[in-house]
Amino acid sequence: MKDASPQTIYLADYTVPAYHVDSVHLTFQLHPTATRVTSKIAFRPNPESADRAFYLHGEHMKLISARIDGQPVDVSLTPDGLTADVPDAPFIWEAEVEIDPQSNTALEGLYLSNGMFCTQCEAEGFRRITYYPDRPDVMSVFTVRIMSDLPVLLSNGNPTDSGDGWAEWHDPWPKPAYLFALVAGDLVAHSDSFTTSEGRDVALNIYVRADDIDKCAFGMEALKASMVWDERVYGRAYDLDIFNIVAVDDFNMGAMENKGLNIFNSSAVLASPETATDANFERIEAIIAHEYFHNWTGNRITCRDWFQLCLKEGLTVFRDQQFTADTRDPAVARINDVNALRGRQFREDAGPLSHAVRPDSFVEINNFYTATIYEKGAEIIRMLMTILGEEDYYKGLTEYFDRHDGQAVTIEDFFACFGDDDPRLAGFSRWWHQSGTPHVTIEQAWQGSELTLTARQETPPSAQQQHKEALPIPLAVGLIDADGRDLTPTSVLMLNDTTQSWTIDTRTTTPAWRDTNASASDQQNSDASDAPTLSLNRGFAAPIILHADQSENDLLRLMAHDSDTFSAWEAGRTLALNTLGDMARGIKTPSDAYVDAWCLSLRSEDRAPAFRALASALPSTMDIATHLKSQGHTPDPQAIYDARETLSQQFAEAAQDSLQRLFAQHQVTQSYRPDAEQSGKRALCGRILGLITRLDGGAEAAKQHANADNMTSQLTALGCLIGTEHATKSLEAFYQQWAHERLVIDKWFGIQIGQAAPADASKVAKFLTEHEAFNVKNPNRFRATLGALAANTAGFHTAGGSGYALLADWLITLDGINPQTTARMTSAFETWAMWDSARGEKMRVEMKRILSTPNLSSDTTEMITRILG
Ligand code: ARG
Ligand code: ZN
Repeated sequence: MKDASPQTIYLADYTVPAYHVDSVHLTFQLHPTATRVTSKIAFRPNPESADRAFYLHGEHMKLISARIDGQPVDVSLTPDGLTADVPDAPFIWEAEVEIDPQSNTALEGLYLSNGMFCTQCEAEGFRRITYYPDRPDVMSVFTVRIMSDLPVLLSNGNPTDSGDGWAEWHDPWPKPAYLFALVAGDLVAHSDSFTTSEGRDVALNIYVRADDIDKCAFGMEALKASMVWDERVYGRAYDLDIFNIVAVDDFNMGAMENKGLNIFNSSAVLASPETATDANFERIEAIIAHEYFHNWTGNRITCRDWFQLCLKEGLTVFRDQQFTADTRDPAVARINDVNALRGRQFREDAGPLSHAVRPDSFVEINNFYTATIYEKGAEIIRMLMTILGEEDYYKGLTEYFDRHDGQAVTIEDFFACFGDDDPRLAGFSRWWHQSGTPHVTIEQAWQGSELTLTARQETPPSAQQQHKEALPIPLAVGLIDADGRDLTPTSVLMLNDTTQSWTIDTRTTTPAWRDTNASASDQQNSDASDAPTLSLNRGFAAPIILHADQSENDLLRLMAHDSDTFSAWEAGRTLALNTLGDMARGIKTPSDAYVDAWCLSLRSEDRAPAFRALASALPSTMDIATHLKSQGHTPDPQAIYDARETLSQQFAEAAQDSLQRLFAQHQVTQSYRPDAEQSGKRALCGRILGLITRLDGGAEAAKQHANADNMTSQLTALGCLIGTEHATKSLEAFYQQWAHERLVIDKWFGIQIGQAAPADASKVAKFLTEHEAFNVKNPNRFRATLGALAANTAGFHTAGGSGYALLADWLITLDGINPQTTARMTSAFETWAMWDSARGEKMRVEMKRILSTPNLSSDTTEMITRILG
């Protein structure tokens, strides 16, 4: 949020900094409403810059004094910083400022959370702490002295000295200001240690409030596993004597990779079996890994400017995805990644917020911490590995670490480490510059035993980018015979042009694909039922939307037999989408063959329980809506909801005879472990419990809810009970049991709204915003309430528009408190053009109402303006 009028910043305007910073000394005299920060900064003119103007960023602070080389200096204050006349030689800048952490509800800069001082500086929060060239290409060595009576005083780097009421820290690694962090509080530590492959002994701590000390063990194990993994896989060891993690209750995002002092949203680190679900444990493991991996991809090598954000985020997300795949079940991990990609990034890229992974301009950088930059950014790195092969991929990464350690660099610098002239990578950099999801249409034609596959790509124009070019797309394809056996190993065909064809002779002993010029017109689809079946985009090697028009028989075969587990899941999903789309349009009922296959897959002993849980789940209402839209139909959220209910009921009845047996068979009897094996069983039992509830009205679920000894089983049961006669009693009991655990109460808020029937969702949400435990200032609680409403697709989009109005009311309230979280949540409106014009118009009316709010933040203004188009 800026007080000055919003300004668009362009990548093309980048210039090098006018001054280097050789060292920074900061002293904090902490006080809730009047913290004094003194800075002593050694500046040196940058010979590479023609510009000698001296400009420091600074917002929301009172300047007490300023000196240059010990002499008081006159400065000119601007709305977001200051300028001063400075010598044409190295000089020392000293300033004292006063800031007010307590009134900082934006949670950027230095703020208070439950009596704890903490910071969030990425992207531009440091300028709320002191005057500074707050840009990532200014890197310096920081020494920090903290004065406070609070018992725990932390900053980046290694502790150097401390005494009664003060502590000093020194970070030897030059870093940009966005990686600065400070914490002071009444905290306790869960401690451990680690010896790196280079022989360095590292003290590890997770700092929490005393009540939470029993929720740290898992995070610590995840941290050590991440350290081992990064040494083993990328050859990267940790580089300080201490690594601290702090849990904070009020936090805008998941976590932050500050050098040596990661600060985490408590929901992203605290977990015990009683209070956290399997999904929470898995997310915590991934976020701990993500922030730890940033130490090399982000901190040791950082971004030259914020347009390069994907340089650290896309790469680090890919690394945490690899870690999860290695630690858990790789196919299940991939399915989860793709579900998240489609649910958030494809949706973003298909709407008014579509932007390139490396954008050319922005107003508020906080609005660009998006699914596109993170998740699509990761997909690009994955494709790089697919195209180059693992060996050349890791060679390129090693080159990157060797060449750019200690620097602030660009995507071009990164890409050059893979040999930009490598013919395999021709055109590849377009993936970073071009927005939109490519649609790839596949046609197959048979001539005797020869199959010709023709692929055509098209990326629809977007508001920001009308003209789209062809992208190099790695198509990972397999071919399986009627018995489900692989005829070929997975082959990666490179689709570099708009249209390309490949041919394979399926009767040779080792069939292989070869380039074909064009498909002849007299070829036909094979209708022989024993013809081999194509398995397309295996492992989701490319982030594309595929149009393959495969027959139900082919999809059933893939679902049952594909050796690529991801593609087996994908085939089931395609069948579900086709079926539910037709049901929602009222044109077809599910085929018996599909219902039978679904039951078979639920029971299939050859597949892991975690996979069966995923494969038996139906695509989300939003996924089905998107599918219908892509076929040229206007989706009706209520009709989709009804279709999902009808099909679920039909599945429950069809599988009726085996449900109790499967439920009993997959119960976990050992003591709780949040690992892949146990959580897979619980996930499958959770799916089955949902089906059982459709048949028994909730008796089994009520039993599980009352007797559960872990949060996964308890919350799953509670979710099943919403809408049954047991709901009120169970919700009340749950609240009484967990009233003292804020992360559990977030779940209690979220599940009632998330699972509410469409007609109830906004009523329940409104009721809960009036609950004594609702707190607009806590982002987790706000998201658990209003975010859950936005995620309940049919409930948010009820025809009357009450969901839109309620969300808009609360975004208007929140904007004055926390612009960043407000702006992020405006994306609930990004789908306005997808629905019928009545809904679309109601959404636009609410957005315009938000936009007309006096003093609306630039964050929210930018988002709504972009969404309205
Ligand atoms: N770099 C953090 C991460 O790893 C995200 C922090 C973003 N914070 C923000 N205020 N935009 O994902
Ligand atoms: Zn990150």
